[in-house]
Amino acid sequence: MLNVAGLEASYGSSQVLFGVSLTVSEGQAVALLGRNGMGKTTTIKSIVGALTPTRGSITFNGTSLAKLRDYEICRLGFGYVPEGRRIFQHLTVQEQLDAFVRKRDNARNWNTADVFELFPALAARRRSASGLLSGGEQQMLAIGRALVTSPRLIILDEATEGLAPVIRDRIWSVLAELKRQKLSILIVDKNIDDIMALADYAYILNKGTVAWSGTAEALLPDRETQQRLLAV
Ligand SMILES: Nc1ncnc2c1ncn2[C@@H]1O[C@H](COP(=O)(O)OP(=O)(O)OP(=O)(O)O)[C@@H](O)[C@H]1O
Ligand SMILES: [Mg+2]
Repeated sequence: MLNVAGLEASYGSSQVLFGVSLTVSEGQAVALLGRNGMGKTTTIKSIVGALTPTRGSITFNGTSLAKLRDYEICRLGFGYVPEGRRIFQHLTVQEQLDAFVRKRDNARNWNTADVFELFPALAARRRSASGLLSGGEQQMLAIGRALVTSPRLIILDEATEGLAPVIRDRIWSVLAELKRQKLSILIVDKNIDDIMALADYAYILNKGTVAWSGTAEALLPDRETQQRLLAV
């Protein structure tokens, strides 16, 4: 479904990705792991068109994303939950979700009511300005906003970072439910146990290259790889 091959990317004159390749198949949950600054967000930004790669190819169901703008990439069916959430502060929760609703053939179609069912805490704040929400509520809103675009693939960058345990747990159980519904997922997160409980497959980035890739079953018992590439 998503195929990234030989991706290279730079900020100005400093290159940060050196040939990243990864694949997300239909209905699969894929984890992108690695320590701080290893290139996870840069990889995601390149995929969603927020950054133009200097080399490599990115295709989605066979369509090259190279010449597309970020909104066109979104239209293809990417639901993107960015690092730091980036919600619109002045819209209410309801307005913000309503503004992003779109219908799509061959995908589960979501509306605002579906999101409120998934996150009842958000329904209770539907008339609040989004900027007044707690961090956890804003994160649920960011996920809901991605879902109402009725994505074929949802991409989450550090969606549980800095949140209270009860909210983190809610988000992980929602992601497990989305996976059961066969939504494809590409996720960056530092909670190894939680992310590996969800993911089928993992890629570990180290200094802008894929240093390890394999199944969750292979990574979980592999203390040496975890220590070498993930331990802080
Ligand atoms: N806007 C930017 N301008 C210049 N350098 C950047 C920029 N964003 C990231 N970098 C650098 O690129 C490298 C990769 O950063 P990136 O954000 O992709 O890492 P990450 O794996 O997502 O890290 P984290 O776990 O901290 O989110 C780092 O060395 C970082 O300092
Ligand atoms: Mg990052």
